[in-house]
Amino acid sequence: MVYMLQQTLVLIKPDGLVRSLTGNVLTRLSETKLEIVAAKVTRVSQEMAEEHYRELKGKPFYAELIQYLQGELHDRRKVMALVYWGHDAIEKVREVAGETNPEAASPTSIRGSFGRIRSSGLFENVIHASSSEAEAEREIKLWFHPDEIIVDLYPTKAASSGGIQTRQWA
Ligand code: PPS
Repeated sequence: MVYMLQQTLVLIKPDGLVRSLTGNVLTRLSETKLEIVAAKVTRVSQEMAEEHYRELKGKPFYAELIQYLQGELHDRRKVMALVYWGHDAIEKVREVAGETNPEAASPTSIRGSFGRIRSSGLFENVIHASSSEAEAEREIKLWFHPDEIIVDLYPTKAASSGGIQTRQWA
């Protein structure tokens, strides 16, 4: 069996934070034995939410999805963003997360345990997890600066900010 060393982005969405599910979610994710190599709590601007979900523009639930990620549906304007790293990280995290539709997700999964469908039809599914290596790369580079991640995942180039040497994605 060939194992792939991968990284994947996880977002604990505002419903997860407002319902104090962070501990439960991190415990479930720890079952994967993957390593957390970056983590932060951050506000989500409209631009950030639109960029994150840019492939979904035009879907009937798109506008509400953007509001959801920004925390406007839960009056909790923050998400927790993490990068998990290790063998087959993408599949392992998605397995623990469960199917996107919380009603179709296994009852033992995070989304099956804690997710729900709003009356509008929007999936309120507690976490986001990257679905492919290409998506993980795009999303990790969107949510994190290179210096916020403790391993070198993608090429970087030197940059200077206010006279301080930093790195940015190449
Ligand atoms: S698609 O359109 O289902 O093929 O797209 P997918 O890549 O699976 O991601 C869909 C994201 O939109 C969120 N979302 C919904 N998808 C489908 N139907 C409904 N009603 C819906 N409501 C919200 C879904 O949760 C996916 O976002 P993430 O953050 O990955 O969970």
